[in-house]
Amino acid sequence: MLRIAMLTSGGDCQALNVAMRGVAKTLYKNVKDVEIYGFMDGYKGMMYKKYRLLKEKDFSGILTQGGTILGTSRTPFKTINVPDLDGNDKVELMIKTYKELKLDCLVVLGGNGSHKTANLLYERGLNVITLPKTIDNDLFGTDMSFGFQSAIDIAANTIDCIHTTAASHSRVFIVELMGHKTGWLTLYAGIAGGADIILIPEIPYSIDSVISAIKSRTENGKRFTIIAVAEGAVTKDEAKLTKKELKKLKEVENFMYPSAAYKLGAMITEATGQEVRVTVPGHVQRGGQPNAYDRVLATRLGVKAAELIMEGKYGMMPCVRNNSIETIPLGEVAGKTRMLEPDADIILQARQLGLCLGD
Ligand code: F6P
Repeated sequence: MLRIAMLTSGGDCQALNVAMRGVAKTLYKNVKDVEIYGFMDGYKGMMYKKYRLLKEKDFSGILTQGGTILGTSRTPFKTINVPDLDGNDKVELMIKTYKELKLDCLVVLGGNGSHKTANLLYERGLNVITLPKTIDNDLFGTDMSFGFQSAIDIAANTIDCIHTTAASHSRVFIVELMGHKTGWLTLYAGIAGGADIILIPEIPYSIDSVISAIKSRTENGKRFTIIAVAEGAVTKDEAKLTKKELKKLKEVENFMYPSAAYKLGAMITEATGQEVRVTVPGHVQRGGQPNAYDRVLATRLGVKAAELIMEGKYGMMPCVRNNSIETIPLGEVAGKTRMLEPDADIILQARQLGLCLGD
């Protein structure tokens, strides 16, 4: 009898169900006796024994279904060693549940924070396999995470819609996209949607450069400018602050500007007198159906996870390298963020195209 459990942790994204289906289908096909448990709402389900035994039929009809059939929650890694409200050690609680269920492996579908906890559980002796999910595409060790491509489609479609209204009204439109630490989604969606200015956390921007790009478009007879800005984009001055100082500044500024796009909008209006409108698609970006690309990607990664379980190779994450599915040890993934390098191909190509990246 092979007994595994799965959980989805952190912010959800499209194709979580697809990946779990990939794991389950492969195991049901290749292993005679298999029991698959699902922990509800991420690591919390494992701590407090909220789980259910999943049946083959639970994995039917979920290929096109966004979100996660298991539910999810955020369990910040920085609090993982802080006892819960009843004084219990959270890691011990999870280990206890794993042992009580006599599990052979735990499969964690998660992003950066979830990988740190997964690695900790592996180091504490549990058999763990993870799967890379995040619309931010910032998980270290894989060229791509599932959820990213579906989110690009939604974000690019938002910019497409903005195009017609921007042209009609002759305004500056700012579309704020998800990505606190990295600009993968904003850059890809910005290029796909034909944004004129793209601002990402990895390249702090100067307001003068943004203003001069807008002015030069106006002088060239363009009626509008579209700016794609990541929620974590910072000015050159903000980039000089420590993490703590920046947090404090944002807390103060939040009264005036709810997010990065509004601050940028205010600076543009002040400098150019142009009318500015802000659009924030927010959680829409990680909602809805997974696109075809993500369905294929999550399926391939899920199959690989099942293969690792069958081979007894634990402490690994299936990943994408040069379009093939490979594996990477959890210890190499946990605790790192995959940033866009300022000299990455796609950044250089964006510059060649004449896009303003704010620097
Ligand atoms: O981790 C993905 C992500 O979508 C980020 O881009 C975003 O900042 C964050 O989650 C917001 O999620 P939540 O509102 O669930 O905390």
